[in-house]
Amino acid sequence: MPERHTRLSPEAEAAASASKLSLPGPSRRKFLQGAGFAAGALALGLPRRARAADRTEITFASAKFFGKETIAQVVDAYNQSQSKVLVKYVELPPPSSSTEVHQALVQQLARRNGTPDVFTQDVVWIAEFAGAGWAMPLDEYYKDDVRSQYFPGLIQACTYNGKLTALPWHVDSGMLYYRKDLLEAAGAKPPQTWDELTTIAQEIQKSGKADFGYLWQGKQAEVLVCDLVEAIASNGGSILTPDGKAGSLNDEKAVAAVQFLYDTINKSKISPSDVLSWDEEPSRQPFTAGRAPFLRNWSYVYAIAQDKAGSSVVDKVGVVPLPHFAGGKSAACLGGYQYGINAATKNKEAAVDFLTWMSSPDTQLHYALQLGLAPTRPAVFENAQLGKEQPFMQQLQSVFVGATPRPVTPKYAQVTLAIQSGVSKALVSGNIKAELDAANEKITSIVAG
Ligand code: GLC
Repeated sequence: MPERHTRLSPEAEAAASASKLSLPGPSRRKFLQGAGFAAGALALGLPRRARAADRTEITFASAKFFGKETIAQVVDAYNQSQSKVLVKYVELPPPSSSTEVHQALVQQLARRNGTPDVFTQDVVWIAEFAGAGWAMPLDEYYKDDVRSQYFPGLIQACTYNGKLTALPWHVDSGMLYYRKDLLEAAGAKPPQTWDELTTIAQEIQKSGKADFGYLWQGKQAEVLVCDLVEAIASNGGSILTPDGKAGSLNDEKAVAAVQFLYDTINKSKISPSDVLSWDEEPSRQPFTAGRAPFLRNWSYVYAIAQDKAGSSVVDKVGVVPLPHFAGGKSAACLGGYQYGINAATKNKEAAVDFLTWMSSPDTQLHYALQLGLAPTRPAVFENAQLGKEQPFMQQLQSVFVGATPRPVTPKYAQVTLAIQSGVSKALVSGNIKAELDAANEKITSIVAG
């Protein structure tokens, strides 16, 4: 397939040459070079105009992530690391606006005009994008020797109908953040069951040391499905039946799990009713402001909690697996974003080159250190610097790797909306069984149809 070559506009050239990386010289050079690419023209000191003229330009659309750096800066590092490809980054909303990110990608990919060439996709969209023929199979580029460098479960999550249609980027999972100091003062250990969490939270609230007990995400959004999967699975239940052909959202275990979530607001009162309008960030803020002993959230929170600039809880936060119901097992929802190549791209080779760099060990380490995004390569998990800066990642490696997926179906976009709407109504009204019955009927008609 011929590559599309472009001469850069002065603006694009400026963008290509501007380095916003905050890394110090040696480690930045290492980041640029370590991924196994030829040293960039910058490192070689070539004139920029000569370097930029023959580049293949590709577009890369991704949700935006927060951390010490932006995705744009990482993309910039790739642009500087080599002289053949120039990536133009199209920033989509953050992953918490999952429906919007999904919609933006679907609109683009359905046009089949090759734009964006490369994109990132939430793990729950892989089946849909592959099933629609929008994601290019990557098998010939990433063979067994490469695939074996990733966690096997994640390669499996990137595989649809026997074809690898996505390349792992970062893995995410729900976890329990807790305040070490408040628990110690209360003579408590990190809770293993939801009952224990409730008792400790209530005690700390009563002592006046915290305004809230437990912060979670109950907004009618994708994250509600994640919190739900965790609660239900920690009671031994699931959203779909094992064969995936019907819903099981109204069985006893699921109903009890949603009842627990409802009770955190209305009975035990460990959670404010505000959780019903909170996604990730609004729930994170009161925690890092020191107002609650417990928070359910993703891995990105740790670095923020440890950042003196905005956190009141530096060195006071521990992270453990989420609690479970008596007789159940802790469950974390599998999250994370993966790379995909548009099946209609006219720039296959350039897209593969970029993808390879973005998913390389060095870039994954960089994402972990700068943006708190957990690696999908076991070898990167073991990195000593990562262990020092974000110790919880290594401690919780089995939680990341053993996380529970949301329903895997090409119809996930419809399934999630049915879950979000039904569970949201259940949490607002308290008519748990009736709302879950209704939602379950919808889910069954979607997955069975
Ligand atoms: C996180 C997860 C993603 C999930 C989203 C929900 O970004 O990585 O899988 O869908 O949160 O808000």
